[in-house]
Amino acid sequence: MNVAVIGTGYVGLGTAALLAHIGHTVTGIDISEEKIAMLQRAEVPIHEPGLDALLASVQSRLTWTTSYDAVAAADVVFICVGTPPGPDGTPDLQYVVSAAASIAPHLNGHTQVIVNKSTVPIGTGDYVTRLLEENSVTFHAERHAVVSNPEFLREGTALHDSLYPDRIVLGGSPDAVAHMTRLYAPLIEQTFVAPASAPRPETYTRPAVVKTTLQSAEMIKYAANAFLALKISFANEIAGLSERVGADIEEVMTGIGMDTRIGSRFLNAGLGWGGSCFGKDTQGLISAGREHNYDMPILQAAVTVNYRQRQDVLQKLIRQLRTLKGKRIGVLGMAFKPDTDDLRDAPAHDLIERLHGLGATVVAHDPIAMPRASREWAHLTYHEAGSVEQVFDRADAIIVATEWTDYRTLDWNALTPRMRRPLIIDARNIIRNPIDAQVEQIGRDAPAAEEFTMDTSL
Ligand code: UDX
Repeated sequence: MNVAVIGTGYVGLGTAALLAHIGHTVTGIDISEEKIAMLQRAEVPIHEPGLDALLASVQSRLTWTTSYDAVAAADVVFICVGTPPGPDGTPDLQYVVSAAASIAPHLNGHTQVIVNKSTVPIGTGDYVTRLLEENSVTFHAERHAVVSNPEFLREGTALHDSLYPDRIVLGGSPDAVAHMTRLYAPLIEQTFVAPASAPRPETYTRPAVVKTTLQSAEMIKYAANAFLALKISFANEIAGLSERVGADIEEVMTGIGMDTRIGSRFLNAGLGWGGSCFGKDTQGLISAGREHNYDMPILQAAVTVNYRQRQDVLQKLIRQLRTLKGKRIGVLGMAFKPDTDDLRDAPAHDLIERLHGLGATVVAHDPIAMPRASREWAHLTYHEAGSVEQVFDRADAIIVATEWTDYRTLDWNALTPRMRRPLIIDARNIIRNPIDAQVEQIGRDAPAAEEFTMDTSL
């Protein structure tokens, strides 16, 4: 089929690469001339493992442009633009509105399904339909139906998540959903050749196709993210109590996660969630509730626990150092999670801001995100470390804020002698063996020499 993808952020680029890989002809459209020029030069504006290789391998089926003309020939038009949170937490729909208004004049006589892949408030599908109708003389409700097809990919594993999804959610009229199942047939049947950069997992079979109403599909996206955020906050809350009663959060979560009704994933206690989705989507649901005069106390609590976690990590540091004035604190990791340079709602941002506010000199490092941080975090006061060693040099303490593999595999004992005081606040619980330093972790005592390994074999 012929596909147009509006927006070249994480979701748009991932969608374009996936659809081209499974055999469709794709035009990627963005209003940013800078981004399009980069893509035309085969440069990828974001950091996502394997994406450059996949885009390069499907180059012959991909065109990048700032013009909406390609919409005329498209059988499916994906809206993948950003929906950043407004001041009250409600997603800002301005880019969705302008994308719909720009698509509308190019609609014509053949079936053209318009797909909302951006995370949008429940009811936006109908709103987009209205916008198309108002801005197009050729709009025809049956030919130009809107479908909600939410995206569940995670940054850092986006290729794997889009090629081998658990489920594909399609919300809309039966005809429009049928059109979408034809588009996704190679993905549903898994008949495409797996790319070298994302091989098909041995145990993977096929995705389930969940066909729903527009509103249910829109709700599924929010509810899925909110539930995952909730799991993390739950783990963090239990971690706080575990510390106080002498339990070990990792043993506790292993013990509960083996109940298949609970599941073991997204129960890692640490510095809490960040990123572009969890904060925005929990707030989005809470403000949707507010609009309907309906409280969402569970979600409120999940958000409170998440941000308390950032404070608690600082408290651990203050308990040890008493005052931060004049202290040199190293921060390992700036991205909101490993394998991405995305800094949105990154816990490290708040840490750096507060550490500086409390009088500390901050030296921060990230394997990938530092260049981006010097642009996007110009309002923060910190020193960029040229190397991991520099983070340790004369530091009074180090906080592990992101669990990059580079940090998991550090030779701690070679580095801690560089510190003024060997104190590590390991807020991601990455240190597995005793080291020559005082280590504070989340929800557990740091590994001591005599520690035994938990036996989960039976
Ligand atoms: C998330 C959803 O997983 C994805 O389905 C959706 O499409 C977009 O939002 P993403 O934000 O890329 O994806 O990252 P994810 O891997 O889910 O991690 C989110 C945050 O939670 C990170 O800050 C991570 O460090 C944190 N996290 C995750 C935990 O603190 N503990 C966990 O057990 C898991």
